[in-house]
Amino acid sequence: MPATKQPRPSTALAKVGKSQSKAGKHSVKSSKKPAPAKNSPRTAKSATKPVVRAAPAQRPTARSRVVLGLQWGDEGKGKVIDLLAKESEVVVRCQGGANAGHTVVVGGRKTVLHLLPSGVLHQGAACVIGNGVVLDPIALCQELDELAAGGCEAAPRLRISDRAHLVLPAHKALDAAIEAAKGASKVGTTLRGIGPCYIDKVARTGLRAGDLRNLATFERKARDLFAAANRQITALHAGTAIEVESAMGPLLQACRRIAPLVSDTAAFLHQAARDGSRFLFEGAQGVLLDVDFGTYPFVTSSNTGIGGVITGSGLSHKHFDEVIGVVKAYSTRVGSGPFPVELLDATGEALRQRGREFGATTGRPRRCGWLDLVAVGFACRLNGVDRIALTKLDILTGEREVPICVDYEVDGERLGTVPSRLDDLARAKPVWEVLPGWSESLAACRTIADLPAAARRYIETIQNRLEVPVGWIGVGPGRDEIIVI
Ligand code: IMP
Repeated sequence: MPATKQPRPSTALAKVGKSQSKAGKHSVKSSKKPAPAKNSPRTAKSATKPVVRAAPAQRPTARSRVVLGLQWGDEGKGKVIDLLAKESEVVVRCQGGANAGHTVVVGGRKTVLHLLPSGVLHQGAACVIGNGVVLDPIALCQELDELAAGGCEAAPRLRISDRAHLVLPAHKALDAAIEAAKGASKVGTTLRGIGPCYIDKVARTGLRAGDLRNLATFERKARDLFAAANRQITALHAGTAIEVESAMGPLLQACRRIAPLVSDTAAFLHQAARDGSRFLFEGAQGVLLDVDFGTYPFVTSSNTGIGGVITGSGLSHKHFDEVIGVVKAYSTRVGSGPFPVELLDATGEALRQRGREFGATTGRPRRCGWLDLVAVGFACRLNGVDRIALTKLDILTGEREVPICVDYEVDGERLGTVPSRLDDLARAKPVWEVLPGWSESLAACRTIADLPAAARRYIETIQNRLEVPVGWIGVGPGRDEIIVI
């Protein structure tokens, strides 16, 4: 793929690396005492060698970028996407469905995007919902209407893959019934029908957007799917069957509306690639929710990493120039499952309030904890992350100390990575590198040099431990409250 050369400011990143070598020596408390409680910060040896290489003076502008969440979702991908979408001609969602949520303000109205790529707000961009997405036609129509009310007409620029599976009301009812039947061991899903729709996809019993070409046949197949779901809901999960007739009307109405937008998006993307278009692939959820590599079974039902981008778009691995991993400066997760860095105390509550950590899709309070570099490092390795976008650094302002989890310990043994077995993860005790905090507001910082020394040290520690450079730093909720390195 052609790539244009563009000068890249190398000094800012070099500055981070430089202050690392100075500060690194003194930045870690050395204590060998075992941790008294699961999450009380204990220390680890600092990454002694500055490993971040200076950026080359010249680097090609990536034509095809992938933005992935490297934690448990809700990393603040939207803000990074917003910045990068300006430089993109085609924005693509590849996996997940209406379980994702990104709050945007359009024409003064607050809207939550669930299915549309966030890049839709840039009027010049063509938008693609790829084959890996599970698409709820009713939710999509609502989203299109809300955007239109704010003055953003997305439908004329939207293409839906004919291979994308459709989430029907039956899938949502089944999601609720399965969760209810699980009781205390429920996953804590968003109840958007995601799991049951992917089950139908893999079981080869699903309905795809391409089926909307013939609405009469689609309706017949949908009724069969409703009947099968109702049998499961009542017989296996002791739930209440969904009322088929009342569900069918709004479903068919939405399907009629979206049918003209359905096409072979893989063919469109292949042509766009041949034309040299600039792409932005928007990951949904986060790598620790990946169905293969996440904290299974407390995960979503899709591949949330680069693999999902490839299988969910139809482009080959050769088309991806740069993988950008979005990392929140601390950790959050919603739903159940082990979360070694979780803070169940006032500090966790303070992070939740300051960071407004309540789900955009469900409104649920998110579980909060310190930054987990074991999880993020694992996500970087799995996805070949080229650069990190660090978000919400300002939320840590005011903390006296900012511990970072740098390893897990199970039965006295250091793991160095995220274990596959849930019971190991549940027993994992974080090993902490404790860094000093800062009290200064970061809102006006626009360069690395503007940041307090302790905040710079925090960033250096992250990039040195991950061996991946930090390219963006979020310092406030506003569009321009970001440091671009
Ligand atoms: P599902 O994707 O609705 O099946 O939910 C499975 C798990 O993924 C639950 O723990 C959800 O809370 C979580 N999840 C799904 N989508 C998101 C997201 O966009 N952000 C954060 N967590 C999510």
